[in-house]
Amino acid sequence: MPESALPVPADRIAPPAGSAMADPRFLWGVATASYQIEGAIDTDGRLPSIWDTFSATPGKTLGGDTGEQACEHYTRWADDVDLIADLGVDAYRLSIAWPRVMHADGTPNQAGLGFYRRLLARLGAHGIQRYVTLYHWDLPQHLEDRGGWLNRDTAYRFAEYAALVARELSGLVEGWMTLNEPWCSAFLGYGNGHHAPGLADPRYATQAMHHLLLGHGLALDAVRQNDPGTPAGIVANVGRGTSDSADPADQEAARLYELQHNDWVLQPLLTGTYPTDLWDKLWPGSAPLVLPGDMAVISQPMDFLGINYYFRCNLRSDGAHGFVDVPLADVERTQMGWEVYPQGLEDLLRRFKAVYPNLPPVYITENGMASDDTVVDGRVADPQRQSFLQRHFAAISRAIDAGVDVRGYFIWSLMDNFEWAFGYERRFGLVHVDYTTQVRTLKDSARAFQAFLQQRRAAATPAALTT
Ligand code: FCB
Repeated sequence: MPESALPVPADRIAPPAGSAMADPRFLWGVATASYQIEGAIDTDGRLPSIWDTFSATPGKTLGGDTGEQACEHYTRWADDVDLIADLGVDAYRLSIAWPRVMHADGTPNQAGLGFYRRLLARLGAHGIQRYVTLYHWDLPQHLEDRGGWLNRDTAYRFAEYAALVARELSGLVEGWMTLNEPWCSAFLGYGNGHHAPGLADPRYATQAMHHLLLGHGLALDAVRQNDPGTPAGIVANVGRGTSDSADPADQEAARLYELQHNDWVLQPLLTGTYPTDLWDKLWPGSAPLVLPGDMAVISQPMDFLGINYYFRCNLRSDGAHGFVDVPLADVERTQMGWEVYPQGLEDLLRRFKAVYPNLPPVYITENGMASDDTVVDGRVADPQRQSFLQRHFAAISRAIDAGVDVRGYFIWSLMDNFEWAFGYERRFGLVHVDYTTQVRTLKDSARAFQAFLQQRRAAATPAALTT
């Protein structure tokens, strides 16, 4: 790759000296998701997904962008795998597109499965561990047409899909993740309508969440049955909420924010109960319909928990039962407008360990930032990303020192991609993508990360690498 010939920037990104993250067993990776990179939306029998429908609806995404082309990963996958290997990561987190691998009648689509078999095999040949998310938001549209996640039946269809994938791809995967960020699917998809399918009612959100979590529990069983021995878990996005006001009402607003963002998902998974303040205080009358036995399915033990962390919000009371986000002035922000607040990740990890004694081993399955990156003379300078990553490594190290069992870290994202409602404008990649030519260019952050990984590998296994 020509970019590799460029000098490595002096500032390596690395965890603090002596950190447990420097241990050779700590897993370093990069992450992507099917709809955000693949393109080829009607190739090899792929069915329409809710994101095809949503993004094709005027006004739903920035600039009307869709995933129709994305990074053309469906055809460029072999080069992309080589790019991942060139970075030197231990692991790659990707997702399977449900509409690619299962026909509407529930039978396997071997053409779509073949794509993932080849992809996973090539990753394996490079010695890269494969962490596979089953659902990163691309629900088949035919299921949405029957109510989507508002329909309890979708949880059972998801388990059938999970069973199919685990059976067909068993032996090619080191870790299964059932759902990516059920909070986003439930709240952004059904609560405020910012994401597909674009419905907006808190009662929909709580019911969709229940069915998502039920689907997770059923899928966990299915995966364990069809690919026994491969660790399985879920991925939850979490957010830090604090208030710059000491007023008890504002402090309560911050508590409710974290309850709504974090405990709405983690508490049912880890204790088998919902935080009822959600419907007693925040959204009166929105309690979901829960059938006997559901909570036991939802809360069965997981092998690991994936945590995605991006930012903090500053909350104030809305004067009633809820909270409003009052952005702080004069704080560092990213291209998304999100505050850069690494301390929040340490705080949350420590809190989860304190509140949930049965917290399983944690992987940070997404963390990263968007910046308005451009290629100048073959180079992409993204100093804010390097600094962002470095500071988050330090925050995770502090959480590990405090006793939280964090075993790996995946940067979001391998490359710039379709950032949902924000389209292609927001660039989260370590690798820059020119969407006209599809040329990939390693950003400075990628080189700095690569330099750290190379050095770590050389230090850990000198004999193996030099002979
Ligand atoms: C997360 C999503 C991921 C990406 C990042 C920026 O919520 O899981 O697909 O969009 O945000």
